[in-house]
This record gives sequence, structure tokens and C-alpha cells, in this order.
Amino acid sequence: MTLSSPLVPIKTPRDLRSLKKNWGNPSGLVPTMGALHEGHIQLIRHAASTAEEVIVSIFVNPTQFADNEDLESYPRNLASDIEMAQLAGATQIFVPNVKDLYPNGFSTYVVPCGPLVERWEGKSRPYLFRGVCTVVFKLFQIIQPTFAIFGQKDFQQLQVVRQMVSDLDLQVEIHAIPTVREEDGLAMSSRNTYLDSKERKAAPLLFQTLQQAVVIIQNDPKQNLEVLSQTLIRQLNSVPQIKIDYLGFVDAESLQPVSQFNGNVCLMVAAFVGKTRLIDNLLIQTK
Ligand code: PAF
Repeated sequence: MTLSSPLVPIKTPRDLRSLKKNWGNPSGLVPTMGALHEGHIQLIRHAASTAEEVIVSIFVNPTQFADNEDLESYPRNLASDIEMAQLAGATQIFVPNVKDLYPNGFSTYVVPCGPLVERWEGKSRPYLFRGVCTVVFKLFQIIQPTFAIFGQKDFQQLQVVRQMVSDLDLQVEIHAIPTVREEDGLAMSSRNTYLDSKERKAAPLLFQTLQQAVVIIQNDPKQNLEVLSQTLIRQLNSVPQIKIDYLGFVDAESLQPVSQFNGNVCLMVAAFVGKTRLIDNLLIQTK
């Protein structure tokens, strides 16, 4: 398929607000940091299947990166992102620059707190959810979409955004789309491009281990999950390229650790594969 007239990205909140008056309804927002891959494409396709107007935002959000993280090296490829988004069904592309969203003197953040953010990504990356909630809140304010779509790969992010929407009475529906995977099971991520060939070979072990845990639990649902998680951590850490940051069985709503299977459990993992930090998760259901 070829594009007859390429979309011209909207660059400022002000332009977006004035153009938005003529947009169709309902509208779906797909917030992204660019470097689009098949996972993003599925989010855009989902939006296009129900919305008249599909807005894809592309913004590498500096406030969700700590100083030692990959803000500078994060992959950026705007021209191909716009083309891919349009082919998947985007009708508008919003590409603000940092000064537009965080002008000089910016000092008001949306800071989630409590048990949902105290562990896992929230513990390992202390700025992450403050940055995510602040930028997502701003995007919701500027775009005012009927719904916004997030991938289940960032499972804690999804729950934190849902909590923000509920706590702050935001008028937006949150839709979630299952993780899209490479053929060997590796969860698609813009950061997979950082992996060298040995690391790329090792990376699918994360998902394979999650699947292995599901089988173990299906065979013995009374299994002690804390003990099982320690076994899985040891197993993954024995692979030279892999260093586990965390691996835990959690209640899929509260994200609190569970030691017994309760029918609604998610196994979450974060690991360094070489220098690249990858995350994945799997919801566990009994047969
Ligand atoms: O998941 C992401 O790509 C980002 O965290 C998001 C939601 C676009 C906010 O910057």
C-alpha cells in the first residue's frame, strides 16, 4: 500500500487545539515515544478499528528517564514512524518538542504514590511513573481523546495510568492490547535494537521462563510462588548475558507479591540483557 498524501505532523499544543475542532468522533490516542514497531502498529490498528480520528503522539519524554538511562541514545526515526503510523491507520500525528510540553519554569508534576508504584519498575526506575503520568496527563488534556491505548507489555504502567484516570476523574477510557512478540517469543520493544547477536539469542529466555512457570503452576497450583521465583531467578542468572533486576508473582490488580496462586496472577520480570534493560510479563490462568 502506498500513501497518497503523507500526514503533516502537528507540532504544538496550540496547533493541535485549533485543528481538533474539525476532528471526527470518537477519537483514539496512541501515545508513543516513537521508534515504532509491530507492537505499536497493533495499538494503532486497534484504535483505527473503532475511532474516526486516530492520533499518534511521538514524544521521547525526558521526565521519565533518570540521568543514567538511555534518553540520549533512545532510537529516533521520525520519517519512518510517520509513514508506519499512517499506514496502520493514524489520521493525525502529534510531535511536540520538549519546550512545548515542558516550557522553562515547568514545575507541576503528576506524582503517583502508594503500593502500585512502590515496587518493580517504580522501585528500579524512581522517575519513571512521575514522568509517564505527567506526560500522559498533559496529552489527555491537550488532545482530549475518547480513549487511549496502552500495551500490556508495560503492565505496571498500564495499571498506574488506570489508577491516575480513576483518581483524577479523567474523562478518557483506557484500552489495553496484548504484548506483541517476535517469532521466538521476545516481547517487541524499541530497545531490542540495542541487543548484539549473543544478547538477542539470550533475550527470548525471559519469555520462555515465564511460559515454563505457567506450566509448573498449572501442574501444581498449590506451589509456593516465592520459592518458585527464586528458582527462576537462579536459572536466568546462570545465563552469562542475563542479570535479573526483579522477577515476581503479583496479584494482577494490586501488583502486590503473592505466594499462592489465586487465579489472577501476573508474573513480571525485568532483566539486563547485556547493558539493555528489558521487561516482560505473563498473566497466569489455570487450564
Ligand atoms: O510506553 C511508552 O512508550 C511511554 O511510557 C508513554 C506512555 C508514551 C509515555 O511517554
